[in-house]
Amino acid sequence: MDHEILEHILAGREKPTNLSFTLLKNITENFSDDREIGNGGSATVYKGVLPNGNVAVKRIRNSHSINDALFYREVDSLLNIEHKNVVRFLGFCANTYQTAIQIKGSKQHIYAEVRERLLCFEYISNGSLQKYITDELRGLEWNTRYGIIRGICEGLYHLHKEKQIYHMDLKPDNILLDNDMVPKITDFGLSRLDEKTKTMNEYRPGSLGYCAPEYLHQGKMSFKSDMYGLGMIIIQLVTGEKVIRNNNNNNLKRIPDKVGVFVLHLAIKVLRRWRHRWKKSGKETPLVYQQVAKCIEIGLLCQEHDPSKRPFIWEMIHDIREIEGINGKISNAYEHSFGQVRSYAPWAVLVSFSLLILGCYLLSLFLTPRTHSSSCILLFSCR
Ligand SMILES: Nc1ncnc2c1ncn2[C@@H]1O[C@H](COP(=O)(O)OP(=O)(O)OP(=O)(O)O)[C@@H](O)[C@H]1O
Ligand SMILES: [Mg+2]
Repeated sequence: MDHEILEHILAGREKPTNLSFTLLKNITENFSDDREIGNGGSATVYKGVLPNGNVAVKRIRNSHSINDALFYREVDSLLNIEHKNVVRFLGFCANTYQTAIQIKGSKQHIYAEVRERLLCFEYISNGSLQKYITDELRGLEWNTRYGIIRGICEGLYHLHKEKQIYHMDLKPDNILLDNDMVPKITDFGLSRLDEKTKTMNEYRPGSLGYCAPEYLHQGKMSFKSDMYGLGMIIIQLVTGEKVIRNNNNNNLKRIPDKVGVFVLHLAIKVLRRWRHRWKKSGKETPLVYQQVAKCIEIGLLCQEHDPSKRPFIWEMIHDIREIEGINGKISNAYEHSFGQVRSYAPWAVLVSFSLLILGCYLLSLFLTPRTHSSSCILLFSCR
């Protein structure tokens, strides 16, 4: 009977609801080691098996220290979210019971309270994005990476714009990939949009490296702190690294009057590596250059130290949505995004402009194949 409820929820015939501890115990073979999928900072995740598919059961450790008000607030927001780029929530369990522990050498018992707090989600088969992060020359193809970037942006747009929820722990471990490599954001439970808790001094769940400086040092949460993590993920998906390295030219630092040159230099470096791969696989089109360039521009902008310089997700999502084309056809989004980028930052304008020229130049090279190789060598040798 219990099983049936969860089967129906998984099949989409019923809404998520509270689930019994016995059910979750049964479908995970008593939380056996064999069913353990992974261990995070606050919970252990188990695979639960049902006749019509699998689920992931997240068993929160140290649940005696969990604030129940927070737990239910989290459940409440999970119940409200339905988006193809957010992991689907199936149910929860809050179970408290007394257990008798016999005192050593005595017939007497003491009674302890055991609290179990669990969350149940759809099982996402391909694991987390973390294991797919590689540099430009190997691993996922560009189209798959771009699809993942777009999906993450769509999921975050839903959380920020439509649900007013901060994620606060955006990192590749918290992006899961399904069979079709569709990204699903998970673990946004540790942070709710709450006017009273806009700063968080004691407990900072965001992971180092993805955590915005103002959150790390002052505990300040905002939509912009999520954008910092998003920037890290985008740059990592494009280059394999969280930050674009500049090994060849260390004297070119991020000094104000040279920032545009600095970013352009980095963009060209990354594009050269991608070009090498696209050439080999015959997948080179003007569109892919345009997409890589735009991702670098947005990724770096999101990494700005000053949160006010980072864009909101609703300010940049159009750029990501619009640079999509069929059969490598260049979209008119470049012109559009060039117009929009004016409001971002002066160096972004410079990068956009330079990349616009780069795109147009490449397009012209495609139309005149005889001069193609020599011109490209010229273009890409300006390191
Ligand atoms: N719905 C799911 N389907 C499949 N695997 C999942 C699911 N949710 C989590 N996992 C996997 O379980 C593991 C542990 O996840 P968990 O969220 O507890 O830790 P984490 O993301 O590594 O760190 P953190 O506690 O900071 O979020 C991860 O490797 C993740 O890939
Ligand atoms: Mg996680």
